[in-house]
Amino acid sequence: MMLDGKSALVTGGGTGAGAAIALALAGAGARVTICGRRLDPLQAVAARHASIRAVACDITDESAVTQMMAEASPDIVVANAGASESAPFVKTDLDAFRRMVDVNLTGTFLTLREGARALHGKSWGRLIAIASTAGLKGYAYVAPYAAAKHGVVGMVKSVALELAQKGVTVNAICPGFLDTEMTQASIARIVEKTGRTEADARASLEATNPMHRLVPPEDVAQTVLWLCGPGTSMVTGQAISVSGGET
Ligand SMILES: NC(=O)c1ccc[n+]([C@@H]2O[C@H](COP(=O)([O-])OP(=O)(O)OC[C@H]3O[C@@H](n4cnc5c(N)ncnc54)[C@H](OP(=O)(O)O)[C@@H]3O)[C@@H](O)[C@H]2O)c1
Repeated sequence: MMLDGKSALVTGGGTGAGAAIALALAGAGARVTICGRRLDPLQAVAARHASIRAVACDITDESAVTQMMAEASPDIVVANAGASESAPFVKTDLDAFRRMVDVNLTGTFLTLREGARALHGKSWGRLIAIASTAGLKGYAYVAPYAAAKHGVVGMVKSVALELAQKGVTVNAICPGFLDTEMTQASIARIVEKTGRTEADARASLEATNPMHRLVPPEDVAQTVLWLCGPGTSMVTGQAISVSGGET
């Protein structure tokens, strides 16, 4: 199989896009480590494929990320874990801003840096960050999240230049609204704040997409596989939009 002999690490692999990515990589022959803070969802994903191993790790904890990466020694690193909160900008307190930067930007920094260190001396590697269309354009009420995701795109483009001659490509994937737990939580927040029905709230998010539907997590997983497959050795430093034409 395409990824026989390769090992991969996927942060946030217990749910949503991360679970789809882990299953796709394992299906292509890779040995996959998935991490998150909650062990239960990770173990449920690991139970679906013999090549997936679950590890509890908070990506904002530097020593925990260092230890996990040393144990996994991955060839492919997918910095997927993230979180979103929404509020009007003028009501956003510093703690909320810091929470968004901590998990979405600092956590991705630690994952990619330790991933790059693990790849040192190997002749092939893939560093992939799951950013967002919020890393390419603005959205009302999520300024800290969008700031962090724009930061991820800038970091990826910079690291790609540093590793360009090492056989390691570094890319960001930028999905639009995904059909995952995170979007379900956004729908619940819209229902709570506006009193609209769940179907209305979901339709309002679908309407932001030119294809009028949410992005399936499997589309993100297939983009990861494409970046790990043949013919992409010179695709690096890119922010690849998987958004039905939204960006
Ligand atoms: N949902 C969307 O519409 C959308 C759109 C564009 C981009 N994205 C991005 O796509 C990625 C995946 O999101 P998703 O939609 O699949 O959401 P999700 O189902 O909520 O998955 C997020 C994952 O990240 C993990 N996580 C959160 N904080 C963590 C931490 N500090 N340390 C380790 N793991 C942590 C969570 O597990 P624990 O809670 O157990 O830690 C969870 O498994 C995220 O980076 C997100 O920003 C999402």
